[in-house]
Amino acid sequence: CGIVGLVGRDAAAPRLLEALRRLEYRGYDSAGIATLVDGHVERRRAEGKLINLGTELARKPLAGTTGIGHTRWATHGAPTERNAHPHGTARVSVVHNGIIENYAELRAELEGQGIQFETETDTETVARLLDHHLAQGASPEEAVAATLKRLQGAFGLAMIFAGHPTKLIAARQGSPLAVGFGEGEMYVGSDALALSPMTRRIAYLEEGDWAILSDVGVEFFDAQDQPVQREVKLTAYSGAAVGKGNYRHFMEKELHEHPIVLGDTLRQHIDPASRAVALPPLPFDPAVVPKITLSACGSAFLAAQVGRYWMEQVARIPVDSDVASELRYRDPPLPEGGAALLVSQSGETADTLAVLRLLKQRRQHVLSVVNVAESTMDRESHGTLLTIAGPEIGVASTKAFTAQLAVLATMALGFGRSRGVLSVQEEARLTAALLEVPAHAATLLEHTEEVQALARQVAMAKDVLFLGRGSLYPIALEGALKLKELSYIHAEGYAAGEMKHGPIALIDQDVPVIALCPSGPLFEKTASNLQEAAARGGRVMAFTDQEGASSLRRFAEAVVVLPTVDPFVAPILHAIPVQMLAYHVAVLKGTDVDQPRNLAKAVTVE
Ligand code: G6P
Repeated sequence: CGIVGLVGRDAAAPRLLEALRRLEYRGYDSAGIATLVDGHVERRRAEGKLINLGTELARKPLAGTTGIGHTRWATHGAPTERNAHPHGTARVSVVHNGIIENYAELRAELEGQGIQFETETDTETVARLLDHHLAQGASPEEAVAATLKRLQGAFGLAMIFAGHPTKLIAARQGSPLAVGFGEGEMYVGSDALALSPMTRRIAYLEEGDWAILSDVGVEFFDAQDQPVQREVKLTAYSGAAVGKGNYRHFMEKELHEHPIVLGDTLRQHIDPASRAVALPPLPFDPAVVPKITLSACGSAFLAAQVGRYWMEQVARIPVDSDVASELRYRDPPLPEGGAALLVSQSGETADTLAVLRLLKQRRQHVLSVVNVAESTMDRESHGTLLTIAGPEIGVASTKAFTAQLAVLATMALGFGRSRGVLSVQEEARLTAALLEVPAHAATLLEHTEEVQALARQVAMAKDVLFLGRGSLYPIALEGALKLKELSYIHAEGYAAGEMKHGPIALIDQDVPVIALCPSGPLFEKTASNLQEAAARGGRVMAFTDQEGASSLRRFAEAVVVLPTVDPFVAPILHAIPVQMLAYHVAVLKGTDVDQPRNLAKAVTVE
């Protein structure tokens, strides 16, 4: 969910709505705004996308210069208007991101005292608890301090109080909040991007902090309610609206940004003249690191999986990898001096962040690959390598994913050299291959017709199978994930060699089998697996290169020929057409490409 709030001089509601637009990536199940009007709390809420809240506000405008806003990704309670934030009473209004884990217990306690609830949300418990203290004569500060001590879980909160027209209190425990400084105005938001049209001067709340904002400034307190100072920084974000340009969807625009993003990200750490990798100082020495633990969620995890193949093959480092929500509770043995490598576009994903903190506690050296500078993961890691993908608005990751691959590939080469397992010549050959990827990506984007033709076939299917081997196996998983996310067609990704142990039972003329099968050491094996599918009536549609095309054409229904590249970089290049395929299928099916149902771009709850 996304939170925003301000104590301002002009009408708050339109500015809160604009800030929420920049936070819609965090969820779009419902949205709401509350302001203080003549000392009273007033609110407008709407189910569904933010545009519905905009319509509601146009119909019933909201006055007031102090207010809070929220865009929701439902956790507790259905995504209805009734469950939309802000929640509250006549005395207080609250927006909340995260989960209050002990809300059932707190609710039972309050209900036991005769207090009635209106919604099923955990947030209302916070509002009722605050209200309870306020009703007994506590000041807003006292009510907040008392309430925070009762809450368990990970959350960010912003609260306004009837009768306090220039006060807003924000609190952070496990869920990031940025405080913005204006001229005679103060702001709070889930991230700096949301506040960028209003200010670039930002201070972040630390874990357990809470802050009182007013028209003259802000006071910060730590978890023990002691006054503290928090450093004010200038963010790099510009206030310019993030637009779609001439593209139909953000996703289409972002697909077209692959070449530039890949180029910018690669050039960061590869010297084009010497073709040598130059990584910045890292929090561990790759030459002696005993093991790397890789973790992430969603598409970022699949990028990490490709990274695993690279680091094992090119750098000969033992690597363990797992999705963050599993790694957290698996408790694997970790060697002294081991490294943790976390991958995240947003740098805010709750499960990945939890792993980061756990692995820090377990004395691993934590390095993160993130796209958002100053995100929580960037700030809490021992070191960060940034992807230079720019803001990614489409919920399904595209350019951030390939940028993650670019960083991981560069890292594997750098590690290989440090460990003495990669010769200078080999490094130069592989970096040259990497540096050619942006140009190949541009070529690929010019040839959309073939992918569109495939999309017309896939759009009619109920089930789709994606197959790949080696470092292309995670790309097969990514192809299936993208298709599911965007078109709601059931899709599975499988290791090509594993198909015969199960999914082959599904194969018939209605199940397209999308194969990632470029020439290289694994080509023959994968091609045999595809023949096994074709022999059973399967409709094989393959992405390959010139060399692989002729033998695949013998049995495949469709063959899309991609540029010929070194097998090392093939996963980056194959990621692009599988994203394009999902995009075109979604367009044909008329689904909401940029904001697919039930998803959010950054999931800040566990
Ligand atoms: C959500 C998004 C995915 C993304 C994942 C991890 O589920 O819908 O597209 O891959 O979160 O996000 P992160 O910001 O950590 O990369």
